[in-house]
Amino acid sequence: MIKQILNRADSFVDQNKRFVGALAFLYATSLATRSLKKVLGFLAGQFIPGYNLTQRYGKGSYAAISACTDGIGKGFALELARRGFNLVMMIRNAKKGEVLAEEIRKTINKDIDIRIVEIDFQNIQNPGVIEAIVDQLKGLDISILVNNVGKLLHGSFEIQNFTEINNLISMNCGAQALLTRGLISQLLQRKQKSAIINLSSLSCNQPMVGYAMYGASKSFNDYFSRSLSEEYKGRLDILSVRPGWVTTPMTDGINEKFFEITAEQCASNVLRQLGRTNLTFGHYKHQITAYFSELVIDILNNDSRKKLQNSNKSQ
Ligand SMILES: NC(=O)c1ccc[n+]([C@@H]2O[C@H](COP(=O)([O-])OP(=O)(O)OC[C@H]3O[C@@H](n4cnc5c(N)ncnc54)[C@H](OP(=O)(O)O)[C@@H]3O)[C@@H](O)[C@H]2O)c1
Repeated sequence: MIKQILNRADSFVDQNKRFVGALAFLYATSLATRSLKKVLGFLAGQFIPGYNLTQRYGKGSYAAISACTDGIGKGFALELARRGFNLVMMIRNAKKGEVLAEEIRKTINKDIDIRIVEIDFQNIQNPGVIEAIVDQLKGLDISILVNNVGKLLHGSFEIQNFTEINNLISMNCGAQALLTRGLISQLLQRKQKSAIINLSSLSCNQPMVGYAMYGASKSFNDYFSRSLSEEYKGRLDILSVRPGWVTTPMTDGINEKFFEITAEQCASNVLRQLGRTNLTFGHYKHQITAYFSELVIDILNNDSRKKLQNSNKSQ
């Protein structure tokens, strides 16, 4: 049977040499173009200098960041303060926010204006909560919204409880959609450009064992972000950020962290690309991780599946 198929294929190629040659040439060209695009995209992301952000978005304007007393959010707060923006911290612990605000005034800019909006993002979908936040921010010249807050759930899906799942949906999807909806009119009405940075994750590159809820929510972040970037092209700079491992409280207990970077490295590499693209892995290490993860994902998934099954049995 196989021999017959191969013989037929041979005679087809013999009779249609020019056509088969043309097809092979087209295929090779499209592969080469795709690879070249990837390489050029990588080089552009890493070597083209970023915009002067206060020039682009407005001197004296505010960057509003969710969950920025620690982790990647704090990285963005420090980097945006360094670039001359005032800050709105949307955080759950006002005291911790005051300490960070003091640190920023002492080390970065003594004249910076920092507003604190208290919010536990687990409650963002409760009636009246988003309206109260939007009310507090009315009239403030917000030029950059960083939708950073997020929660990690890892392990067997069957042992994750309803509260954990609901909280993840609120923090990873609800917060991003509602804050964007709440502030988008303000951002669109400004004379200068405005920007939205949405934290997704490299974990949504491929389906990963043990990360079903997290990966799915990060795919939501990525699609939401890139869809809006198409809808508001030319009017808003909207950037989906898909970092790999970053040293933060979220990743504290995880041992194997390949190509890990600091929160400030993450933020500064993202800000360099703001306004130039609608999707970034941020740091070049994470762009490389993204490429290699595609090649080894099946091995990783097989290994994680065995580990999860064994840990379920031993419980
Ligand atoms: N870390 C990574 O390797 C990584 C990689 C890819 C993508 N990401 C994404 O990047 C974003 C930030 O990640 P991260 O690692 O910085 O997270 P994180 O370490 O959990 O962030 C800590 C910050 O989140 C605040 N926070 C936690 N729960 C909150 C709640 N219910 N309401 C309000 N604030 C809350 C903390 O406040 P307190 O200071 O009060 O505790 C702190 O400011 C997430 O969307 C995540 O999915 C992270």
